[in-house]
Amino acid sequence: MDVLGIESSCDDTACAVVGAGGVSADVVHSQAVHEAFGGVVPELASRAHAENLVPVVRAALARAGLRRPDAVAATAGPGLLPAVLVGFSFGKALAAGWGLPFVAVNHLEGHLLAPLLEDPAPEMPYLGLLVSGGHTALYRVDRVGSYQLLGSTVDDAVGEAFDKVARMLGLPYPGGPHVDRLAAAGRAEIPFPRPKVGRFDVSLSGLKTAVRLYVERHPDSPAEVVAASFQAAVCDLLVDRVRNAVEETGIRRVAIGGGAAANAGIRAAIAAGPWASFLPPRHRCTDNAAMIASCARLRLLAGHPPSPWEATARARWAVGDP
Ligand code: KG4
Ligand code: ZN
Repeated sequence: MDVLGIESSCDDTACAVVGAGGVSADVVHSQAVHEAFGGVVPELASRAHAENLVPVVRAALARAGLRRPDAVAATAGPGLLPAVLVGFSFGKALAAGWGLPFVAVNHLEGHLLAPLLEDPAPEMPYLGLLVSGGHTALYRVDRVGSYQLLGSTVDDAVGEAFDKVARMLGLPYPGGPHVDRLAAAGRAEIPFPRPKVGRFDVSLSGLKTAVRLYVERHPDSPAEVVAASFQAAVCDLLVDRVRNAVEETGIRRVAIGGGAAANAGIRAAIAAGPWASFLPPRHRCTDNAAMIASCARLRLLAGHPPSPWEATARARWAVGDP
């Protein structure tokens, strides 16, 4: 079964085809229009999706050598609603026109199951650490469609914190990859706080404020040292939460996903833990459509029904909720 997936929840217009043999096409068009604004402008993102979708979908079909898939999937949320709606409506229209089943995919579920595209894939149950621009959460993945939220951030998401720290350091948007690069060149010598809440939650707003105050008080402090110290604090915090979850559940398989899972420090920290780690390649951590097509395919194969034609996009949608 070949599933065509569409992703447009933020500033990437993406289309991929996933079948029995794996990913046969994976096309991502990243929008550059937002850089000048220091963040994603929803209306510009939606318009760029409208411009890019036809070429991106055509390119994916051509690359997969396919005239028409067996099912169509599209991200239905959570995300920037105006952006989600463009790809979602386009995908639904394609399915309706072709007379194919349509699957409305939860973007976070896509990230959470993305490690299953790799070889080796984690066996279930596994722990999934999701660190993206809008979400930070730790889940127990029991089977397709069955997830338990163990912990999350009580304020900022990891990617968001990276972007804010990047801004403090005068780096362009999106800042995560820039902080990552800078951190590699510096020593983590500033003892930033590691704000934990309970056994599984994190608070990144306190850490972010500590970085801001430090930068204000030490304007001459090298940016790479600030970046490395901030990144080290995030890594310690995440590893500590994962360690508690491994202890609590007895599950010793840990997978990561979401844009910030592309971070070299986070990858190294998770890989060094006393568990089996599953780190998808960077382009499958950041937003992509292969994870959306794959999630839909796994759901259909597991017996979940396609989505009704009335299905619509949603800005908020907890993983595992119908
Ligand atoms: O999953 P994603 O592509 O989009 C969302 O669903 O949010 O994540 C985007 C986030 C941004 O905040 C970006 O700065 C961050 O992921 N990010 C990184 C890295 N690459 C992307 N953060 C830290 N290090 C990176 N290498
Ligand atoms: Zn994402």
